[in-house]
Amino acid sequence: MTASELVLRAATVTDAARLAELHATRISEGFLSQLGTGFLRRLYRRVIVSPEGFVVVAVADYQVVGFAAGALDVGRLYRSFLVRDGIAAGLVTAPRLLRSWRRVLETLRYPTRGEDLPAAEILAVAVEASAAGRGIGRRLVTFALDEFIRRGTTAAKVVAGADNAAALGLYAVCGFVAHTSIAVHRGTPSEVLVWSSR
Ligand SMILES: CC(C)(COP(=O)(O)OP(=O)(O)OC[C@H]1O[C@@H](n2cnc3c(N)ncnc32)[C@H](O)[C@@H]1OP(=O)(O)O)[C@@H](O)C(=O)NCCC(=O)NCCS
Repeated sequence: MTASELVLRAATVTDAARLAELHATRISEGFLSQLGTGFLRRLYRRVIVSPEGFVVVAVADYQVVGFAAGALDVGRLYRSFLVRDGIAAGLVTAPRLLRSWRRVLETLRYPTRGEDLPAAEILAVAVEASAAGRGIGRRLVTFALDEFIRRGTTAAKVVAGADNAAALGLYAVCGFVAHTSIAVHRGTPSEVLVWSSR
């Protein structure tokens, strides 16, 4: 398969289970993976249906092999997830949430930090391991940035692990530049990168 044989399309709620699976298997940084696929399925369903979010998927041979998720206002999106799905999602993952409660609070507080940062954010990008390195991530992020522009948003941020060379390289070729270094979760360094269409 080459990147040119791919189809990119907006995700629908029927993709939520596959998005959760890809997230859990491909994204080890952050704590969301540890909350389990039930929680992730609900989270991605909310991102897909919310006017604050969107997900683009890459499809090859009828199989979703990658995705990028974006939020126009990540704070508002998380708040809507808490209000609309919080109780149900909490019950699905209660023991794991209890073990990770500090990280949950840190992540929910994070978007309010750094007032000069754009409200919009690339929430996650993942490409199946067997399809990585063929330009799919770049096409997904480019699509997501075009989607921001279509929705009137001209700047966005992304957070990536300081040791995630693939993600940092991907965001750099897509026009993101380093903004600041943070530790979203105590002791785990991450880079905040920003992109602007201007
Ligand atoms: C990060 C990720 C999405 C990249 O997707 P991909 O389809 O493999 O990336 P692409 O083939 O489109 O590569 C685009 C650019 O990214 C960079 N890149 C990709 N893989 C890289 C690697 N292993 N090391 C260094 N840079 C890399 C390169 O600059 C590349 O540009 P080039 O092809 O001109 O050299 C993929 O590696 C992945 O799913 N990783 C696990 C999940 C993750 O860490 N997501 C980010 C945090 S949410």
